[in-house]
Amino acid sequence: MVKTVETYHVPVLLRESVDGLNIDPNGIYVDVTFGGGGHSKEIFSRLSNKGHLYSFDQDADAEQNIYEFGTNGNKLKNFTFVRSNFRYLLNWMRYYGVEQIDGLLGDLGVSSHHFDDEQRGFSFRFDAPLDMRMNKRAGKTAAAILHEYDEEQLANIFYLYGELKNSRKIAAAIVNSRAKAPILTTKGFQNVVESLFKREREKKEMAKLFQALRIEVNQEMAALKELLNSASKILKPGGRLSIITYHSLEDRIVKNIMKSGNIEGKVEQDFFGRINSPFKLINNKVIVPNSNEQENNPRSRSAKLRIAEKK
Ligand SMILES: C[S@@+](CC[C@H](N)C(=O)[O-])C[C@H]1O[C@@H](n2cnc3c(N)ncnc32)[C@H](O)[C@@H]1O
Repeated sequence: MVKTVETYHVPVLLRESVDGLNIDPNGIYVDVTFGGGGHSKEIFSRLSNKGHLYSFDQDADAEQNIYEFGTNGNKLKNFTFVRSNFRYLLNWMRYYGVEQIDGLLGDLGVSSHHFDDEQRGFSFRFDAPLDMRMNKRAGKTAAAILHEYDEEQLANIFYLYGELKNSRKIAAAIVNSRAKAPILTTKGFQNVVESLFKREREKKEMAKLFQALRIEVNQEMAALKELLNSASKILKPGGRLSIITYHSLEDRIVKNIMKSGNIEGKVEQDFFGRINSPFKLINNKVIVPNSNEQENNPRSRSAKLRIAEKK
């Protein structure tokens, strides 16, 4: 069954994030995470035929939503879909002859479609091969990581990306189990670790464990850092950056780079006391979904939006 945009993914903080771009109808915009196309559609609706929207997604499944997006299979002159990881933003913009952009939106992580697809291995609700790659044509699968990484590397992933306190025990259980037989499926993985979680917290902790592995599989933190660095180079002065995150580590990276220009968040000032950062924060306080959105879309509950302007 072909999913409609609505069943593929419900956009989070839609109005707030697109308003944050302060759209110039004739400007050039980039949505680096097309997904179901919800944010792209909203940005596109605010452009004149002199504006242009480039939308990226590294997952081939997202591309089917271009049709739902309103193109009906026709090529829109001022919309371009780029099936690529957003870490290659600058290369692609160069390819299209774009020197500066007016705004960039990122709605990070995976879409609901990833969790709902029984074959991709993102969810422990289904038994599937442990893959978890958003781009099915590149990178290591989750099974390969469980097989190849040493115990300390695995523990670090679960601790950093899953905030799991018993990360060392989990890593030890994996290393012990894989010595007997490879861990190849989501259920197989669950069987190896479930005794380490208290029954009442099992679902929550399992979700964190799967999230941690997914972040590593897709090299999400490295891609985000490269994206923010590229954004600082290609946004024109006054151009806006609107980023939605779902994980505290991601949010910290976004906040630090927007505030100080570096990942550590170290604020450096020049001789005149001006902060040496390519960005100026537009919202000092993080924006979160209102209670209505949180109630209607549980996925939105961990969302955080930050907006900055290129100096
Ligand atoms: C949260 S969803 C975006 C949903 C979208 N805003 C909407 O309203 O439907 C994130 C999307 O970004 C894609 N994605 C995540 N990381 C990416 C990356 N590094 N490069 C390109 N696409 C990425 C995923 O495949 C997924 O489709």
